[in-house]
Amino acid sequence: TYRYIKGANQVITMAGASDTPKVGTDMSEIDVRTDANVLLRDDEIIGVDTHEALLVAFPEEIASAEVIDATGKVVTPGFVEPHTHLVYAGSREQEFAMRLQGESYMAIMNAGGGIHATTRATRAASFEELYTQSKRRLNQFMQHGVTTVEAKSGYGLDWEVEKRQLEVAHALDRDHPLDIVHTFMGAHAVPAEYKGNEDAFVDIVCEKMIPEVARLGLATFNDVFCERGVFTPAQAERVLKVGQAHGLKAKIHADEIEPYEGAELAAQVGAISADHLLRISDAGIQAMAEKKVVGVLLPGTAFFLMTDAADGRKMVDAGVPVALSTDCNPGSSPTVSTGLILSLACLNMGMTPAEALTAVTINAAHAIDQATRVGSIEVGKQADIVVHDIPDYRQLVYHYGMNHTDTVMKAGKVVYQ
Ligand code: NIG
Ligand code: FE
Repeated sequence: TYRYIKGANQVITMAGASDTPKVGTDMSEIDVRTDANVLLRDDEIIGVDTHEALLVAFPEEIASAEVIDATGKVVTPGFVEPHTHLVYAGSREQEFAMRLQGESYMAIMNAGGGIHATTRATRAASFEELYTQSKRRLNQFMQHGVTTVEAKSGYGLDWEVEKRQLEVAHALDRDHPLDIVHTFMGAHAVPAEYKGNEDAFVDIVCEKMIPEVARLGLATFNDVFCERGVFTPAQAERVLKVGQAHGLKAKIHADEIEPYEGAELAAQVGAISADHLLRISDAGIQAMAEKKVVGVLLPGTAFFLMTDAADGRKMVDAGVPVALSTDCNPGSSPTVSTGLILSLACLNMGMTPAEALTAVTINAAHAIDQATRVGSIEVGKQADIVVHDIPDYRQLVYHYGMNHTDTVMKAGKVVYQ
């Protein structure tokens, strides 16, 4: 089957960065085409060019193609969400109300709420309940122009429920049009039953859970929450290195609440990404830029925790490959709106609309090792493409808090319109 996306005001291709992420001034080079159409064969992009040029190369294909009319609209690669806690049960609006009264996120967690509250709800949920609640969020992501989602475990904190969360994500990947990539995050918090006995929990993560995750092929990535009062840099290093020894690529929640040398650790172990980075040190920025560790910034989390966002401008200028994500989770960022994240990145982190769009497409794909397949509109790539109902890509950012998604194509099929 051939499909032909025709007449767009702008096609933003993000071409030329499938091998290495965009850094520095390259993050602004998004390739805005004002005269390009896009031809798809099944799940693959086979032409990106003017109508005249494509007609010469593909006359029969275009004659038989189903037309997707994008007249007056903007076409971009499908958004990639490289940091979400998609699979969980319950919600925490009660704690949100407490935070609005001045209670802090970490104080709520240390008093047994926060991640622990969601862990209780997730442990109590059946596979079917977790599946249904998470599928609803996955649909909402799709409706917001997202075509690939990373999903972390980390609300089981025991093997049975960590495994259940990962299996729910695999079932959704099979059943739902969107693609999911899988991250094990057994070291998301020290569960209540190991309070005061943290190293014994790290032993279980390293000696039992990680080997099982690898043996069963349940995850590609291994993540840890490195933060004072959660896991120390030494514990985080152990978790990440054991993961790497089992073939799991390292990710890290780093320097979110306090500077804690998480970015330095990410560079030292060769992590694929370090995420959050609100309180990253200058040495951490240099180390990440040198080792090309993708910095996944989550301005929705800073917004929702009512704190200063990461310094995205400084990291882009220093040569850190920057990506963006929602961090979709029930505590610090309960949203699926990549569009809102684009606006927050520009308004609160000093990024430009072009840089922000790079950060939710090709650089986000690099953060989850998917950039040879998705993240740009180029011949040979999978046809994950979104039509936005706006005439200029900058309106994605400018008309903030709105959903501009018009048509979502996943692997060449229209999955939402
Ligand atoms: O990425 N920082 C730690 N983990 C999540 C929040 C989890 C939660 O509050 O439930 C985050 O912000
Ligand atoms: Fe997170």
